[in-house]
Amino acid sequence: MAYETLIVEVEDDVALIRLNRPDALNALNSKLMTELSAAVQAADRNDAVRVIVLTGSEKSFAAGADVKEMAGKSFTEVYFDNLFGPEAEAIARVRKPMIAAVSGYCLGGGCELAMICDFIIASDTAKFGQPEINLGIVAGMGGTQRLTRCVGKSKSMDMHLTGRFMEVAEAERCGLVSRVFPAKDLMAEVMKIAKKIAEKSLLSTMAAKECVNRAQESGLSEGILFERRVFHALFATEDQKEGMAAFMEKRQPQFRDK
Ligand code: HXC
Repeated sequence: MAYETLIVEVEDDVALIRLNRPDALNALNSKLMTELSAAVQAADRNDAVRVIVLTGSEKSFAAGADVKEMAGKSFTEVYFDNLFGPEAEAIARVRKPMIAAVSGYCLGGGCELAMICDFIIASDTAKFGQPEINLGIVAGMGGTQRLTRCVGKSKSMDMHLTGRFMEVAEAERCGLVSRVFPAKDLMAEVMKIAKKIAEKSLLSTMAAKECVNRAQESGLSEGILFERRVFHALFATEDQKEGMAAFMEKRQPQFRDK
């Protein structure tokens, strides 16, 4: 399917979804959010896809929600439209692993979108921020919640109250970013990581994602019980038998998602 604000390619089990509004530093407007939620849901349903990578350009992952589109809206409009709520929820409901590959600006709704992904791999030029405070608003796609769970209250408050940008070294140090690569190597490295994940059993990558997300969304004992039950359930799969047999036979496993 052709999109106006995205470029989507599926190759070697990986769907690469690139935000593509270069004139606006990939600011998230309604069209882009509608197309993005449709594209990730299509990738989630597509049997040829085992991992999704979401990226922008070298200059900007996304510079936030489109201020020009939002500026004139009233409370009544954004409330009744539930601005970006359904799209963000649809993206967060994706069950396959989803990596954000971030270069350049990753601000406001852009940072929130990256945090909805399962993990963030960044280039050395990435800059993160929640600058909504400078516009007289607050984050609206989960930023106050996800950033706080990720980096703790103190740094999250700092980011949301000052609106400052965080360089990538700080982002890696505080756990917002899992790995950093030089900008020129970012996409090649992310695709290698995505393909590595795509080689695993899809049953266990999806189960691992569900379990880790429980840590964000539930108390410790409930999360541990959930994880244990999923762990037990995976013993009903052929991939568990194959994975453990391959280990004992000193060979690579051949997973069949069964
Ligand atoms: C609309 C944007 C934009 C945005 C940049 N542009 N960010 N348009 N919405 N969020 C446009 C600029 O207007 C400009 O268009 C072009 O992209 C290039 O941007 P410049 O500002 O000229 O580039 P530069 O000087 O390099 O500065 C980059 C920047 C700055 C630091 C990223 O653009 C900036 O501060 N942008 C806004 C960041 C922000 O406040 N984000 C949070 C938005 S609120 P023209 O036509 O002039 O060339 C949000 C809430 C989420 O995200 C809630 C979700 C529900």
